[in-house]
Amino acid sequence: MALRTLDNLGSLAGKRVIVRCDLNVPLRDGVITDDGRVRASLPTLNALINQGARLVVCSHLGRPGGEPNAAYSLAPVAQRLSELLGKPVAFARDTVGESAHDAVSSLEDGDIAVIENLRFNAGETAKDESERRAFAGQLAELGDALVSDGFGVVHRKQASVYDLAELLPSAAGLLIAKELEVLDRLTETPERPYTVVLGGSKVSDKLGVIEHLLPRVDRLLIGGGMMFTFLAAKGHKVGSSLLEEDQLETVKGYIASAEDRGVEIVLPVDAVVASAFAADADHEVAPADALEATAFGASGLGLDIGPRTADEFAARIRDSRTVFWN
Ligand code: 3PG
Repeated sequence: MALRTLDNLGSLAGKRVIVRCDLNVPLRDGVITDDGRVRASLPTLNALINQGARLVVCSHLGRPGGEPNAAYSLAPVAQRLSELLGKPVAFARDTVGESAHDAVSSLEDGDIAVIENLRFNAGETAKDESERRAFAGQLAELGDALVSDGFGVVHRKQASVYDLAELLPSAAGLLIAKELEVLDRLTETPERPYTVVLGGSKVSDKLGVIEHLLPRVDRLLIGGGMMFTFLAAKGHKVGSSLLEEDQLETVKGYIASAEDRGVEIVLPVDAVVASAFAADADHEVAPADALEATAFGASGLGLDIGPRTADEFAARIRDSRTVFWN
């Protein structure tokens, strides 16, 4: 199925266009420490501004749990966006309330407003479809069309991503189109050796990715929280580390299928094990096959790859011609 892109929406001059971005940037004391995602949103925003659309930019930031929390406000992001675009950006202090409606109705052609963190409203991430739909319906009142450009969030079944696209004419933005083009290249014609680096907390979030990539890659480096499910599948004890028991059989299947295909699955040989999930927790480095042999015993939490693994991963990455880092 062909991707619907901006051209499919026709002329957007004078139209209110909701742009769902992923502006989930890291913040320290209210200061953005990496504005990469804000920069990545610029091509689509500029293309729409140049058409004379009225932009209503929305995003989540962190996981505030469905209620307003100043620590997760998008205000610093709106400010950064204004600096990068070189023009004023209005900011609404709510998502679908009076402030959002006022900001949107004040927009002239080519203007831009950012509404507050979508996840300040429980409807955004609700599992209950009617709750999600209700929030999507409120969002739809703010726009005439939707441009979906939040690459890091398009896999989520959430109101602004999934439900809203069924309520408004919608299309993918330039960032999504570009990411898909790169992904196509990576899966069809990669230069070899082709190494994929996978991390993240859950194997279950990556099932489709692993199944799609296994027949195509030369090696798979496994880090992040998901490494413990792989280590457990190899028969190692993982203490109190994150473990998806219900994925063990699937992971064993991946390991067997990789062997059959000649794909190398590179697992950590050591890990940092800590007494608690906290930046200042006591911690030790332990071999991957002896994670419970630290002072913390079976209550130790594996939280990261160890230094030997980092060296090994670095060596594999250095001699690759294509690296895809998830
Ligand atoms: C991310 O940072 O991975 C995306 O913004 C999605 O965030 P989420 O994992 O909280 O849905």
